[in-house]
Amino acid sequence: MKVAVVKERRAHEQRVAATPDTVKHMVGMGLDVAVEAGAGAAAGFSDAAYAAAGATLAADEAATLAGADLVLKVQRPLLPGAGADDEIGLVKRGAILVGMLAPMQNRDDVEAYAKAGLSAFALELVPRITRAQAMDVLSSQANLAGYKAVVDAAAEFGRAFPMMMTAAGTIKAARVLVMGAGVAGLQAIATARRLGAIVSATDVRAAAKEQVESLGATFITVDDEAAKSAETAGGYAREMGEDYQRRQRQKIAEALKRTDIVICTALIPGRKAPVLLTADMVAALAPGSVIVDLAVEAGGNVEGSEPGAVTSTANGVKIIGYLNVPSRIAVDASQLYARNVQAFLALLFDQDKQLRIDRNDEIVKATLLTADGAVVNPALLPPAAVAAS
Ligand code: NAI
Repeated sequence: MKVAVVKERRAHEQRVAATPDTVKHMVGMGLDVAVEAGAGAAAGFSDAAYAAAGATLAADEAATLAGADLVLKVQRPLLPGAGADDEIGLVKRGAILVGMLAPMQNRDDVEAYAKAGLSAFALELVPRITRAQAMDVLSSQANLAGYKAVVDAAAEFGRAFPMMMTAAGTIKAARVLVMGAGVAGLQAIATARRLGAIVSATDVRAAAKEQVESLGATFITVDDEAAKSAETAGGYAREMGEDYQRRQRQKIAEALKRTDIVICTALIPGRKAPVLLTADMVAALAPGSVIVDLAVEAGGNVEGSEPGAVTSTANGVKIIGYLNVPSRIAVDASQLYARNVQAFLALLFDQDKQLRIDRNDEIVKATLLTADGAVVNPALLPPAAVAAS
């Protein structure tokens, strides 16, 4: 069985779906792994390291994908059009595609996988159950994004994070506010604390309070009652009403008077990100303050944040809107992602290392988008079709 690992071709993407370590593991499973020359270069993995792990190096993408039964990707393949390559066209009918395929935002791509006869798996849809923790790409990547957001803020901030008492005078500790205390937010809190900042955080979910406090940060509560019903059964946040948002802005405006750096990480699955900092709130920050908007790709938590750019407001506040933050720390992000993929593949092979996709498995059901030429994922089908199946 041939596995293909290609170079990622989308803008801002430096990660790779397999590392020499995971290639070695796949070779140990009896798989024949082809890696495109240069596939790992941007993530610090040389062709020689892949070859030493047992991979066959292929000169270009077409040669890597030719005849492959299993294609491992970070981001979804390119479809033809607008001068782009046709990566799907290079994959043989019946092959398995595994990656962060963003199916909810890219329905046309899902149709294209079905048309190409692929069994496509979207790793973002892995359910957050204990058995699937090692496959949880959202967590592995968000954790690193939270870390990198603080490091990016520190790089733009003209002051130090820790308090320093020197012969030449005392430097005050920086004050960091983290908005949204999920996976990325909790790592941002931990990172800012390690750098010596004084940290506070807020979230709509009641469960976040204890987690924030256990990291040594102060929790800003907006509404205890509303927080109780702010979490879905899946552990995610609900979209809050106008009244809650107004009160949250009032509370946060108060906290901003004592804040140098704001790290925004708030997301609501399948929706536009909530606006947590209005232009007025940004304008009220002291000059030299720094905001990181990790939600910029989902519409942004900050009014005025620009995707892919660091901008300065009229009052001297910097807003960082970097895209694909996990890719900015590509070595570790690839290492963790590749291990997620490896854990996922274990699900597709039986004890005799034979491919066996159990369509009744909960994780398979949640992640399989297309099979036998059709879209099969319940999250993508109209409710009537799900009821009938
Ligand atoms: P996410 O990326 O969807 O959102 C980030 C954070 O923003 C969340 O904590 C959310 O509550 C918060 N948020 C949304 N709207 C907000 C608003 N208006 N104001 C302030 N904050 C707002 O969430 P993520 O990081 O994926 O985590 C979601 C939950 O899943 C958490 O409870 C996390 O602990 C849990 N989780 C469970 C896992 C497991 O059981 N295997 C693995 C990873 C996460």
